[in-house]
Amino acid sequence: RNQASETEMSPTNLAEAKAQAAACRRCDLCEAASQTVWGSGDSASGLMIVGEQPGDAEDLCGQPFVGPAGQLLHSEMDEAEIGAAWLTNAVKHFKYRQRGKRRIHQAPNRQEIVHCRWWLDYERRFLVPRLTVALGASAAFALTGDDSPMEIRRGTIETARDGGPVLITWHPSYILRLPSKASADAREQLRDDLVRARTILG
Ligand code: URA
Repeated sequence: RNQASETEMSPTNLAEAKAQAAACRRCDLCEAASQTVWGSGDSASGLMIVGEQPGDAEDLCGQPFVGPAGQLLHSEMDEAEIGAAWLTNAVKHFKYRQRGKRRIHQAPNRQEIVHCRWWLDYERRFLVPRLTVALGASAAFALTGDDSPMEIRRGTIETARDGGPVLITWHPSYILRLPSKASADAREQLRDDLVRARTILG
């Protein structure tokens, strides 16, 4: 448990990594989640956008960013005229606590992020993004190893553990939780950051 199984082989391409991740038991999150939610999108776009973890809707359908946070992200990507990107998450299983019929999202802890980095690192090795956008603190930590507060990092470009540039911005779920004025401001900042990402990619 919490270790690579003895039979786990290093994947040699993206499809192999996805297939292996579907059977991942590197941490306990696989127990309650419905399925592994692997990244999806345009693998040749040069742009990787990394969220925290799948939510309720993503867990059920197996695709990243299909729920309310995803709708906000897609709408801001459209506004920023980003036509193609690879969308993925730092943690690939939904973590939640059951309250009645509802499944309430719980943020992954450091250990879970570090266990799941095994997959993110392979995903990055095979995709070789030219630019990565980190949505929120979990993604920023997974990519850079730094867990300083988002308030001082948002809008800056940091260096990933593997050397690539990472633009740090707000997580769309965080924007959805803010009071209306703060939410509108943060949404504008997310849009500005996405426009900057598109400009950098040229
Ligand atoms: N939030 C995330 O971070 N990722 C998703 O896939 C959906 C919501």
